[in-house]
Amino acid sequence: MKILMVCLGNICRSPLAEGILQHEADARGLGWQVDSAGTGGWHVGEMPDSRSVEVARRNGVDISKQRGRQLKAKDLDDFDLILAMDAQNYQDISRLATTAEQREKIKLMTSFAYPHKNKAVPDPYYGKMKNFEEVYNLLQISCEKLIEFYLQKTL
Ligand code: 4NP
Repeated sequence: MKILMVCLGNICRSPLAEGILQHEADARGLGWQVDSAGTGGWHVGEMPDSRSVEVARRNGVDISKQRGRQLKAKDLDDFDLILAMDAQNYQDISRLATTAEQREKIKLMTSFAYPHKNKAVPDPYYGKMKNFEEVYNLLQISCEKLIEFYLQKTL
């Protein structure tokens, strides 16, 4: 499985989502490859926001070696699953899709933990450390439920 986490800047939410899912998948020996990207290009080459690095570190996940990159059309072919953090991301990613197969790969990050709720992972960029902790917790439960879903599917 190749999974791509997508947010707006690729410095706050999607680096955390990448780090958490890779950590959980590795702990279970799943052999999954997880990456992340932003729909915007402002932070290409940058390391994740220091608040994301800190909240991940406190939870035993190292995201400090990640670097920002922008989503490209080819990602829709290269990955099996593309997870959007909010409705705007979902729309922006969908605009790059040209086939039904590509469109079917795009899902909301929270859709496994909160099916049919259209629940967003809120952008913490202009928030406080508490917002990053809330994002972390929402991503953690979302990643656990995603793994449960795919493990059941492949039984
Ligand atoms: P992210 O947060 O999408 O979770 O990485 C943001 C980071 C930077 C900006 C917006 C959102 N920005 O406008 O620079």
